[in-house]
Amino acid sequence: MEKQSKLNEYTTAAHALKYLALADGIPHRTEGEAVLLEFVPRDVRRILDLGTGDGRLLALLRVERPDSDGFAVDFSPTMLAAARERFRGDSRVRVVEHNLEERLPDLGPMDAVVSSFAIHHCPDPRKRELYEEIYARLVPGGVFCNLEHVCPGSPGLHARFLKALGITEADEDPSNQLMEVRPQLQWLREIGFVDVDCHWKWLELALIGGVKP
Ligand SMILES: C[S@@+](CC[C@H](N)C(=O)[O-])C[C@H]1O[C@@H](n2cnc3c(N)ncnc32)[C@H](O)[C@@H]1O
Repeated sequence: MEKQSKLNEYTTAAHALKYLALADGIPHRTEGEAVLLEFVPRDVRRILDLGTGDGRLLALLRVERPDSDGFAVDFSPTMLAAARERFRGDSRVRVVEHNLEERLPDLGPMDAVVSSFAIHHCPDPRKRELYEEIYARLVPGGVFCNLEHVCPGSPGLHARFLKALGITEADEDPSNQLMEVRPQLQWLREIGFVDVDCHWKWLELALIGGVKP
């Protein structure tokens, strides 16, 4: 059965390229990324990046974790090509084609599962299932960090967010399926994660995560 959302535009090259052109300009993203880097131990051996795009986050993580093996997952042909280009010649990174709306492939146990601005493209029930699958794939002590686009706190704060991004409502990504932070933290706790929290937040950008005990 075709489970991919009709709204998800990342299958088109134009949409993927539009994001890549804007990615560096997302305000405060480097702050969120910096906090994420703090939560992933330096001695992790296997890192899974879900919705990797051009591999930006995985590459950042591997700067100070050069002996780690990376698994970069995405479903967009354009993003997969960009990630393959970034990691060309790096035998420690495997770029994997996979639709996050389908059950995660078995890529072996992971010390860290990370994601940035990707899981919000899945419908809410699938987000929760995905969190369960992530938990199942983590080793004890493994960390999950999701730098995510979340629901606005109010219409006024949404207007402020759009203004900061320099876009209008017409430019908003129709693939977004935003969720509030709090219920996602609750899910993580119910699934079994500990040390669950929102580690960083600015308007609609939030870093949430936890540790598998
Ligand atoms: C906003 S981009 C973020 C890319 C990258 N993680 C970053 O931070 O720059 C969203 C990414 O999620 C991917 N994505 C969206 N829906 C997906 C799905 N159902 N399965 C796999 N990847 C998906 C897109 O192809 C895209 O690469």
